[in-house]
Amino acid sequence: MARETSGFASVEAAAVVVTCHVAPPSVLYSNVEVSGVLPVSEPSKTIETSALAVPAAAAEPSMDKLRIIGGRSLRGRVSVGGAKNAALPDLAATLLTGDPVELTNLPGVRDVRTMLRVLEQLGAVTEATERGVRVVNERLASFEAPYDLVKTMRASVLVLGPMLSRHGRARVSLPGGCAIGERPINLHLEGLAKLGAEIALEHGYVEARASRLRGARFDFAQKSVGATENLMMAATLAEGTTVLGNCAQEPEIADLAELLNAMGASISGAGTDEITIEGRRALGGATHPVIPDRIEAGTYLVAGALLGDPLEVADCRPQDLRPVLQQLRLAGVKLAVEDDTIRVSAAENLTAHDLRTAPHPGYPTDMQAQYMALMTQAHGASVVTETIFERRFMHVGELQRMGADIRIQGKSCVVVGPTRLTGAQVMATDLRASACLVLAAMAADGETVVDRVYHLDRGYESMETKLRGLGAEVERVR
Ligand code: UD1
Repeated sequence: MARETSGFASVEAAAVVVTCHVAPPSVLYSNVEVSGVLPVSEPSKTIETSALAVPAAAAEPSMDKLRIIGGRSLRGRVSVGGAKNAALPDLAATLLTGDPVELTNLPGVRDVRTMLRVLEQLGAVTEATERGVRVVNERLASFEAPYDLVKTMRASVLVLGPMLSRHGRARVSLPGGCAIGERPINLHLEGLAKLGAEIALEHGYVEARASRLRGARFDFAQKSVGATENLMMAATLAEGTTVLGNCAQEPEIADLAELLNAMGASISGAGTDEITIEGRRALGGATHPVIPDRIEAGTYLVAGALLGDPLEVADCRPQDLRPVLQQLRLAGVKLAVEDDTIRVSAAENLTAHDLRTAPHPGYPTDMQAQYMALMTQAHGASVVTETIFERRFMHVGELQRMGADIRIQGKSCVVVGPTRLTGAQVMATDLRASACLVLAAMAADGETVVDRVYHLDRGYESMETKLRGLGAEVERVR
């Protein structure tokens, strides 16, 4: 592929632009003729998959609400699905080969649908399989992940590394801020630049090029799940060895490395803070089961701690849930762990216990809002401190409307309990805040209507059906 460098800003400049919101340098990208572009593929084809139980229409945000009558005990067994946060990078990784990659245990959630749409837009052919989806990225139809898709799901930026690494070029919309904070992607860009990519920002897009990435040592200035994943994928097809330092250690990263190794990559150390990748000329197809969703499991464990009689959370991986289990136990929740099942009953004496979110193996930020719902029912005052995202207390105002006693103090919240929660009309603001409101509603007296359930549908498969199966009174209203 021909390499065109004129007009491209250095990544240092790009990173400053991303973080400081200074106007980016101009890039003459539209004048660049790239030879060797792969032929445009035939129109992509999608077959509805049974594993993706979300109807096509539900891929779009709906105005659905959940109507919940509180106070019902939860009894029985709930099965945890595949992890959304593993499925998304796994799907992006399919871009690294022209051979078929089959993912099983794929969760039927809206974010997965969005990622499939991103891939299809790039030329992927996706096909339903009995337990998931088969993706073939034989030819590239476009180099661009457009704003319309990326703005609905930030994880779309994960196509940048694989596309650049395999095809030498990628154009991906900058995701912009979101409900829980600014969330820049400077670490992704700095890392790719270290592997030899030329990166420019213009018109709200990242444009990256490299004839072939070159292995290098790169230490992340801060732990980032997405940046670790993007760099790890990009390095699989780089020339030579890449060593990534200060990596995020989340279980979803080890899951991605397992898929990549099954595709022929050579990755060691994923799940620790240093990952080594020996670059390969090409990767091939594979079949890979997505790991169980630790956040979905944790959410049902909190439901059980509030109302379990008893409740069994099945098909999960307790080792991935260690920080959550430890925190719940400190608050007085009794848990019985056996293989892939955890049994929990409503705690008789919930005690307030402070929480501080942290990168894995710390307590996950994605379980902070649910824990706060639990603390409204605990005896005493607890301090919940959010260290990962700056605006992740959007659920607090809604919990207050239900009667919770919570005060925000900078990065922390002081929750005093137990308080009697009463049903109210509340508004979901982001994915995990929605889960928190559903939990609070089930613990409250009377009727709660949770608006903007489309946030919940991004990451929880059939939550109301699963909860109804346990005895909750929940219905979706339009
Ligand atoms: C992933 C998860 C998300 C989870 C988060 C933290 C997916 C699809 N999403 O998001 O559910 O809440 O990890 O566990 O897996 N940062 C920078 N520059 C960057 C990248 C990140 O400053 O280039 C900052 C972020 O603003 C944030 C922190 O690093 O403060 C951690 O973010 P990161 O781990 O990257 O989160 P995501 O990968 O976006």
